[in-house]
Amino acid sequence: MRIAATFAAGAMILGLTTGLALAQSADPKKGREIFVKYGCFGCHGFDGQGGVAGPKLAPEPMAADAMIAYLRNAGDTTRMPPYDAKNLPDGDILHIRAYLTTIPKTGDWKSNPLLKN
Ligand code: HEC
Repeated sequence: MRIAATFAAGAMILGLTTGLALAQSADPKKGREIFVKYGCFGCHGFDGQGGVAGPKLAPEPMAADAMIAYLRNAGDTTRMPPYDAKNLPDGDILHIRAYLTTIPKTGDWKSNPLLKN
């Protein structure tokens, strides 16, 4: 029992530190390259702004864990193709996510000077 609890705590700490290390090394520049290389842009737009086929992803993409799970499990019930860890490792998804968070927020029509009267 005690050993199991110690093991569980150890595994949690290991998981946390691995997650942190991955999040810290997430690089928006690499993320954009991967976003383009894997064709995400084709459906979601170059800046993740949303395209004809895929919804808007930037600048507030879903949480990292949720995004990884989404990409792994896409395909069965969605029109989004699945990406397994062999083709697109977790770290690459974190790079993509980091890229998406750097896209500037677009204002609504009121922030467009051409539409002011
Ligand atoms: C063939 C088109 C296509 C490609 C390529 C594609 N997606 Fe998607 N993606 C979709 C569609 C369509 C949905 C919405 C699925 C639905 O709701 O049925 C989606 C949904 C998502 C979502 C969930 C959005 C949300 O808020 O619900 C994420 C995250 C995502 N895509 C990321 C990616 C990434 C990252 C890549 C590249 C590795 C990628 N997609 C490649 C079509 C695509």
